[in-house]
Amino acid sequence: MTAQLIDGSDGLEGVVAAQTVLSEVDGAAGRLIIRGHSLDELAGRTRYEDIVALLFTGFFEDLPADVPAALGRARVEVFQEVSALDTGLLDRTPIEAMRALTARLADGDDAEVAFRLLAAPAVFTAAVVRAQAGEAPVAPDPAMGHAADILRMLRGRPASKAEADALDTYLVTVADHGLNASTFAARVVASTRAGLGSAVLAGISALKGPLHGGAPGPVIEMLDEIGTPSNARAWIEAALDRGDRLMGFGHRVYKVRDPRADALKAAVRWLDARQGRLEFAEAVEAAALAILRERKPNRSLQTNVEFYTALLLEALAFPPSAFTCVFAMGRVAGWLAHSREQLAGGRLIRPASVYVGPTPKKAA
Ligand code: SDX
Repeated sequence: MTAQLIDGSDGLEGVVAAQTVLSEVDGAAGRLIIRGHSLDELAGRTRYEDIVALLFTGFFEDLPADVPAALGRARVEVFQEVSALDTGLLDRTPIEAMRALTARLADGDDAEVAFRLLAAPAVFTAAVVRAQAGEAPVAPDPAMGHAADILRMLRGRPASKAEADALDTYLVTVADHGLNASTFAARVVASTRAGLGSAVLAGISALKGPLHGGAPGPVIEMLDEIGTPSNARAWIEAALDRGDRLMGFGHRVYKVRDPRADALKAAVRWLDARQGRLEFAEAVEAAALAILRERKPNRSLQTNVEFYTALLLEALAFPPSAFTCVFAMGRVAGWLAHSREQLAGGRLIRPASVYVGPTPKKAA
């Protein structure tokens, strides 16, 4: 097998590092397929529990027949770890605190471990956000749908159907997305047979970065700093002059508009209290796309998933500091499915590198 020489500076762009039956990201056509279903068949029409079943089928011999009930039970089980939420964790960012609580769960490779890991970002984020606001955690209701229970645990009161449907749409839309950085990190760890818990911790850690899952929070900061559509051009040009990246724009794979952007924008429209905010965001988006075209004519920098994610999660009353945690609530299904796929057929992931450092002074 000849090693394909890559200097690594291009972030392995275009390098095929795995075969998968889980999802395909067609960057040229702006199309996302998840296990044979296009995104528009799934977003807004499927609950998160259904996409979990779709992604997990064939990868767990012990997959529960009733996924919603199994996920409800898992929320109750992991809630026991919330008592470990001590003052030390309250000073951390929500994703650091959620990661620390997730690390307390027993590692392993079976469906029971997987369902606890599915539940963990949801249960722990709601508890951390409430604790950091000085409020007691709210115990899960295993009989509720996952999205509805997340909002209830976060707020301490039931959410409307429109809100639960909007969160379900978000969780489904971000559940899996090819070999993105956090999924690749999860597969690498899974390939060593470290366990699903270790793989999910790797995924959470990679997702935390602002170039990946850490972008939606800063989108809100950008919108709030711009304030009015008439300020958009000046603010955006100043940011680009500083060499800043516009959060919510650009993508390693999509060279056209990310299909998830419009799926999430549609969900924001269901939350009708947001029309003014949505129109303002659309004006900022139009200005950003125009200026990116002017400044980077040779690059196709389009709106990615994070721009309308920010509006949706803001509308659902998640604090911007917890937006990446909500991303993890959805993507954990993909990390787990890819980890199981890696275990099923893959070998230890161990690429080569080319040594370009100094040679020893005298021959050994
Ligand atoms: C996600 O991979 C996935 O599938 C990820 C994801 C998923 O579901 O898992 O889709 C989720 O991570 C979405 C992306 C969220 N991140 C952001 O919104 C942060 C802002 N975006 C960028 O930092 C950037 O677009 C990346 C990191 C997303 C992709 O960057 P690449 O492919 O590494 O491209 P690059 O950094 O080499 O940039 C190429 C050029 C550069 O300019 P020049 O070298 O031509 O001078 O485009 C410019 C960059 O400066 N550029 C931007 C920009 N993105 C790229 N300039 C301003 N604002 C931006 N957002």
